[in-house]
Amino acid sequence: MLPADIASVLHVQSHSYLPDNIESEAVIRARLASAPDTAWVAEVNGAVCAYLVGYRSRLSQVGALGDGFEPAEAPDCLYLHDLAVGPQARGLGVGPLLVAHALSQARREGLAWAALVSVQGSQGFWRQRGFAASQQLHPDQALALASYAGGPACYMTQALLDVPVSCQTE
Ligand SMILES: CC(C)(COP(=O)(O)OP(=O)(O)OC[C@H]1O[C@@H](n2cnc3c(N)ncnc32)[C@H](O)[C@@H]1OP(=O)(O)O)[C@@H](O)C(=O)NCCC(=O)NCCS
Repeated sequence: MLPADIASVLHVQSHSYLPDNIESEAVIRARLASAPDTAWVAEVNGAVCAYLVGYRSRLSQVGALGDGFEPAEAPDCLYLHDLAVGPQARGLGVGPLLVAHALSQARREGLAWAALVSVQGSQGFWRQRGFAASQQLHPDQALALASYAGGPACYMTQALLDVPVSCQTE
């Protein structure tokens, strides 16, 4: 994602989220400035039709609606804050492609986890991408979870790296 994409990103956002979940242009611009290499767009016929933004974080931490991104100094987790696909591009596999790209970058960087807050009934989509609902949320993060509208928001995580298996003797 580049600053020039922001108008299209706002357009996609407005067609993807309930009014109470819409975030401001100012915060979206500030996030791009603070985490430019974990912000992606997808294009169809040269036009931005979808975006995914996140930042390097710590497991058990979530971002509240409207908060800026504060990348962690010693991250162990790629936190995916917002994925949206414009109505014309839905059902084409664009969302899954963006998620696969982000997870592959996180694995290359050695991040152990990916995490997100699922809203608007999207849990099934994220389960298909390997995420599972998690209780590993720090108790003081409950307020951040409650900032999202449109049904229960759910913290979901996925382990990205293979856990070493200890040698077994017979
Ligand atoms: C959810 C969203 C990102 C999916 O993107 P997409 O590119 O249209 O994804 P696809 O339709 O290609 O979906 C791939 C698979 O996920 C499934 N899926 C899509 N949306 C789903 C949902 N909300 N719940 C459960 N499964 C879903 C599809 O049925 C498809 O399954 P299949 O591979 O078995 O056929 C898109 O619908 C969207 O932007 N929604 C509004 C914003 C939103 O809710 N974002 C997520 C917030 S956490």
